[in-house]
Amino acid sequence: MTWLTKSPAETRHLAQRIGALLQPEDVVVLIGDLGAGKTTFVQGLALGLGIDTTQNPVTSPTYQIMRHHNGPIPLFHYDAYRLENAEEFGDIEGGDHMGARGVVAIEWGERIEEFLPTDTIRVEIRHVDQESRAITLQPGERSSRIQTRLELLNDSSV
Ligand SMILES: Nc1ncnc2c1ncn2[C@@H]1O[C@H](COP(=O)(O)OP(=O)(O)O)[C@@H](O)[C@H]1O
Ligand SMILES: [Mg+2]
Repeated sequence: MTWLTKSPAETRHLAQRIGALLQPEDVVVLIGDLGAGKTTFVQGLALGLGIDTTQNPVTSPTYQIMRHHNGPIPLFHYDAYRLENAEEFGDIEGGDHMGARGVVAIEWGERIEEFLPTDTIRVEIRHVDQESRAITLQPGERSSRIQTRLELLNDSSV
């Protein structure tokens, strides 16, 4: 399924609806160029997880590699952009939260493929124009679960 969002707010809203369907231990990988909207999407996921982001907003974890947000379902937000290689992710114990009681969201997660569970939820965000993005849930068991629920909610468009 591909959604077309026409503003950062629409991307956050879509991600919020997806975030509300996530469960602890889900791992979400964000695939897309710089400025595609990966961090913007994670902001919406946090809202969907019921996290209060007023005190601790979701921002790019590029320099810290990981940012933690507490809430009903905690969020561990990673950015693998600055890693030299996947081993470095292992060295900083980057995989520690995989399978923990929280949702893991990883920007540039395709760079650390070997750390990802087989049922990773992959979200691809592509530039369409300055304010529009095409957002696709790539095929997968957990992705289909989410897609089906969005469809049942008759919620397949933004
Ligand atoms: N439809 C859209 N969805 C998401 N971001 C958008 C959209 N249109 C414009 N933008 C802009 O694109 C940029 C996305 O930035 P960010 O989320 O940090 O990207 P990334 O984490 O992929 O590098 C922001 O400046 C945002 O305002
Ligand atoms: Mg980012």
